[in-house]
Order: sequence, then structure tokens, then C-alpha cells
Amino acid sequence: MKKDMLIALPVLAVAFVTALTVYAQQRTEKAGKTATAAQRGQYLVTVIGCSDCHTPLKMGANGPEPDMTRFLSGHPEQMGALPANKPQGPWLWAGAATNTAFSGPWGVSYAANLTPDQNSGLGIWTEDMFVRAIRTGRHMGTSREILPPMPWPAFRNASDSDLKAIYAYLRTIKPVANHVPDVQAPPTLVVQAR
Ligand code: HEC
Repeated sequence: MKKDMLIALPVLAVAFVTALTVYAQQRTEKAGKTATAAQRGQYLVTVIGCSDCHTPLKMGANGPEPDMTRFLSGHPEQMGALPANKPQGPWLWAGAATNTAFSGPWGVSYAANLTPDQNSGLGIWTEDMFVRAIRTGRHMGTSREILPPMPWPAFRNASDSDLKAIYAYLRTIKPVANHVPDVQAPPTLVVQAR
């Protein structure tokens, strides 16, 4: 019995250490994958130009520039909801000076807060909600239609891994508390939840 124990103990110890090493390796691999996904996401967000509409422009020394303290935080709540633009001549739609609010035949739409802020950003959004929103063009993946000029009809063609990478990156940026106003869409355009 004693002899058995003497053999069993080192075997158990080796098994334990092996299990720990494998676990640590898997964790590092997983963390590595998330980091690579976030890097790929950062690349995609940069080259696609999500910031053009989702980061408000402010006036700088050389003209309008993105306000990086509000990076990807959407239409500033301080500006709030804006009256619809009246189209004139050939001009059908208009954008606010911040390039975060847009008035057109669809009503008035405001670029969303894409930061991970819990109450006003994508904080509560799951990866699945994000992918579904872009794929289906429905708010939070289930409700009303996502209005122009958000280019989801183009973005929906992205691969799952690219959309997940964008989501992973958006989780890593600085949360900014900014409540974006609700869309003002003509009743005919507000599509009810399916
Ligand atoms: C041309 C301007 C523009 C660009 C570029 C743009 N967006 Fe948007 N986005 C908008 C507007 C406007 C809204 C709000 C639409 C609405 O509320 O119906 C919006 C809404 C969203 C929403 C919220 C959808 C929802 O369910 O309410 C997400 C998520 C989003 N955009 C992600 C992105 C990402 C990621 C990129 C870059 C890959 C991007 N957008 C590029 C204008 C843009």
C-alpha cells in the first residue's frame, strides 16, 4: 500500500503540472487570438473609415478634424436632436458640421455611440447582436431598420471573422458616456420589429 502511494504521488504530481501547463497555454492562445482579432478590427475600422461618421468633427487650426477625445462616440448629446433639413433644388440630403447627424428622405439619423460605454454605447451588446445588426440592417439585430447613411448594405458582405474582429476592437476603445438622440424617421419608414 505504502509502495503504491510512493509511485502514485509522483504520477499525480506530473499529471497535475501537465494539466496546469496545458491550461496556461490554452489561456495564452485564447488571449493571443483576441488580441489578434482586435488588431485586425482596428485595421478594418481604420481603412473602412467608421470614424468619418461616428467621431464628431470639431474645428481645429487647419479646419475640421475628428475630436479624438470623443473617438467613435457618435453624435454629441450636447448638440441633441436637430430639425429636419428642407431639401432645395437638386440637394436632397444634408449632414451636420460634426458629420454625425444626417437629414434626408429617411428622416434624421444620428451616428451611434460605438464605444463600450455601458449605458449609452455598445456596452450591453453581445458579439452576436453586433454581427446580426450589420447583417440584417436592424437596430440591435432585431428591431427597426438601420437608416442611411450607415453603409450596412455594403458591410453585411464582410466575413464573420472580420465582423467579429471589428466587435473585438470596439470592446477595447475608451468608453465615452454619450447618449445619441433617437432617429426621427417618417412613420412610413419606421419598420416594426419582425
Ligand atoms: C457614412 C456614415 C457612416 C459610416 C462610414 C459608418 N456608419 Fe455606422 N452608423 C451611421 C449612422 C447615421 C447610424 C445611425 C443609423 C440609425 O440610427 O438608424 C449608424 C449606426 C451604426 C450602428 C448601430 C446600429 C444599431 O443597431 O442601432 C453600428 C453598430 C454602426 N453604425 C457601426 C459602424 C461600423 C462598425 C462602421 C465601420 C465599419 C460604421 N458604422 C461606419 C453612419 C455611418
